[in-house]
This record gives sequence, structure tokens and C-alpha cells, in this order.
Amino acid sequence: MGLFEPGRLGRLTVPNRIVMAPLGRARNDAETREPGDLSIEYYAQRASAGLIIAEATHISAGTVSRAGTGAIHTAGQVAAWRRVTDAVHAKGGRIFQQLFHLGRKADPDRLPGGQLPVAPSAIAATGTLPTPTGPTPTGPKPFPVPRALRLGEIAGLRDEFELAFTNALAAGFDGVELHAANGFLIEQFVRDDANQRGDGYGGTLANRVRLLLQLVDSAIAIFGSDSVGIRLSPHFTVDGPGSSDVPVIYPYLAALLGQRNIAYLHVIEPDATPADRKIAARLKEAFSGPFILAGEFDRDSAARAIDEGRADFVAFGRLYIANPDLVERFALPEPVLNPQDEATWYSGGAHGYTDYPTLAQAQARAQAQARVGAQALAEPA
Ligand SMILES: Cc1cc2nc3c(=O)[nH]c(=O)nc-3n(C[C@H](O)[C@H](O)[C@H](O)COP(=O)(O)O)c2cc1C
Repeated sequence: MGLFEPGRLGRLTVPNRIVMAPLGRARNDAETREPGDLSIEYYAQRASAGLIIAEATHISAGTVSRAGTGAIHTAGQVAAWRRVTDAVHAKGGRIFQQLFHLGRKADPDRLPGGQLPVAPSAIAATGTLPTPTGPTPTGPKPFPVPRALRLGEIAGLRDEFELAFTNALAAGFDGVELHAANGFLIEQFVRDDANQRGDGYGGTLANRVRLLLQLVDSAIAIFGSDSVGIRLSPHFTVDGPGSSDVPVIYPYLAALLGQRNIAYLHVIEPDATPADRKIAARLKEAFSGPFILAGEFDRDSAARAIDEGRADFVAFGRLYIANPDLVERFALPEPVLNPQDEATWYSGGAHGYTDYPTLAQAQARAQAQARVGAQALAEPA
């Protein structure tokens, strides 16, 4: 089956086509935003993935959200992430770091000095901020109207990303994935429902992808093109109507990314997306390099996507939350999977994070329970 063929992602040769999707789990230290021992264990448990893409990590202090999301702008954070990458490498795995800036989706109550979030234009996302799970819950509230970045501020923003790329390299990541999906800052620049700038970063296709490409080029300068990936979600409309020209701007962007020979293009398009909205095939063709598809896949639909040439790799999110040994489980004729518990996504602590058993652990547990049960039956009451 195609899922188990080795493949190439930039400079990495990977043993299978199964990618762990980036998953923010809010387990970093609430103050320092450093990953701790639990995160080391969590990622090391999942080292058999062809590639781990670590959770979205903040590039600066000016873009923080719920308590427990990680960052990589301090020396302490670099050292803490180094322990994670070392643990994954020690188990033979490979790990990229996903880097992001929330833009208009940042929570002003959590930004230094209560500043307004920044964005391409002063247009609020629709919907509400995620309910904080930290020590000072304020309850759901609408996304704020952000402050439009001044043209002169964009160089500073690029510097912050550059520092994050440098830090990710120092932390031992095999590469970086630029998070240009799910309505965050970079996607806000691409989408014309969020970007109505009249300068060189808004309006035309070239202008709307300018920041994204500048950041890709900056990551390439630090990591090399074969260690830079990018994630896109062309049809993300959870927080606004989305771009009016998705079928035009995204293939245009994919072709420009392809010219840069980056390690991969990672696109979120669930298998079940209606045919009239599907765009991944056009992006794959325009990009022409390694293509990761994500969104509601299971083992068989992923294998089909690979066998039919719709994807080179498939990323799994929720299945990876609940199954540290997803690769080993998928290798069985009939995979048995742990159910995942949504209540523990951002709850903090080991439960729902590092305590999902591997198949071997689950079987050992079941046998032990069966033995205890048999003993109880054998003993007179
Ligand atoms: C708890 C949780 C956290 C997530 N965090 C991130 C993230 O940090 N970065 C990102 O790009 N996507 C994130 N996602 C989206 C997943 O990467 C993935 O695209 C989504 O879950 C769909 O894939 P699935 O159907 O295999 O779960 C998150 C999803 C979940 C459920």
C-alpha cells in the first residue's frame, strides 16, 4: 500500500507517507510558553510518523492567544524545544516546527499592555475568540477589530519571523512549516475579505502573496529550500467569507512556491469537500513538488488519495491525538483505533495527551484485566 512506501520531503527521506498534522494542545508553560517534560514524551511517542509537524508556535510576544500555546522567541524556549527535537531524533523521528502569527485573531487581553491585534486591514474576523483555559478566564467574546499594520511596520514583522526561523534551526528542528492557513496573519494577507490594503501588500495577486513569499524566502535563507514547508487552507471560511478569487490566487501562489523548490506544500482539503470546491488537484499540479493533503482522512481514504495520485503524503490530526502508534496501527489489516476525547484537547496535563495507550499497551492492559477477572471468579466470595 502506498502509505507505507518511503518518500522524500526535501532533504529528508521518510519511511512512510503518514504525517502527524500540527496540533496545538495548550500544554506549554502558561508563563514562559516553553514545552516541558510532557511535550517531550508526547512527541517522542509519535516518532514513527513519516514526519511530525509540531504545533503552531508563536513567533513573538506580540501574537499570543490561549494559555499554553508555545512560542520560540526566547533563549529558554529554544532550549526547551531542543529537548523535544532531541527526544524525537533519538527515537529515529523527524520533526518540523509550524510557526505562526495570529494577526487579527489574537486576544487583546493576552497581548502585552492590552494592545490591539495587528492585521493587514482593520477588519474583524467573524466569530468569537477561543474560550481561555488559563487562570483568568474571561469567557467567549467577539474577535476585536484589529489595527491595520503600517507599511513601515512590515519590516519589523519580517524580522520577527526571521528570528523565529533562526531559533527553530537552533532548536534542532529538521525544518519549518509556515502556517499560512486557518485564518491567521499570513492567510489574512492572501484573502481579500481580510486584506483591503492600498499599498504593495494589498490589491493585486502579487501584492497579496508578497508577505508570504518574503517569509518563505527568509526561511529558505536560514534553513535552505529543502527544509521549508507551507500550509494553506484555500477554503477556510470559519471566520469570514474567504477570498473572492480562491480558484485564481491559490494556483498562482502554488506555482510561485513550486519555483522555489521548497520541501512540501501542505493543503487542508477534506476528502468529503464538494467536488465544485475542490482545488487541491490544481494546487498539486501547479506546485509539482511533494504534496501533503489533510482533512478528515482515515487509513483507507488516505491510501486511496495516494494511490490515485491526489497526494504524496497525508496528514492526520485527530487520529494522531488519540493514537501515538498510528503508523503501527495502520499497518494492521483492520486497524483498531483509540477513540479521542475532545474535552482534553486543551485541558492541560497528561490526561488525553500522553496517556493514550499504544496497541501493545492496550492489549497488555486488557490481558491483565482478564486475569484479574478470572481470579475473582475462581475465588469463593
Ligand atoms: C486540537 C486541535 C489542534 C489543532 N491545532 C492546529 C495547529 O496548531 N496548526 C494547524 O495548522 N492546524 C491545527 N489543527 C488542525 C489540524 O492540523 C487538522 O488540519 C484538522 O484536525 C483536520 O484533520 P483531521 O481530520 O485529520 O483531524 C488542530 C486541530 C485540532 C483538533
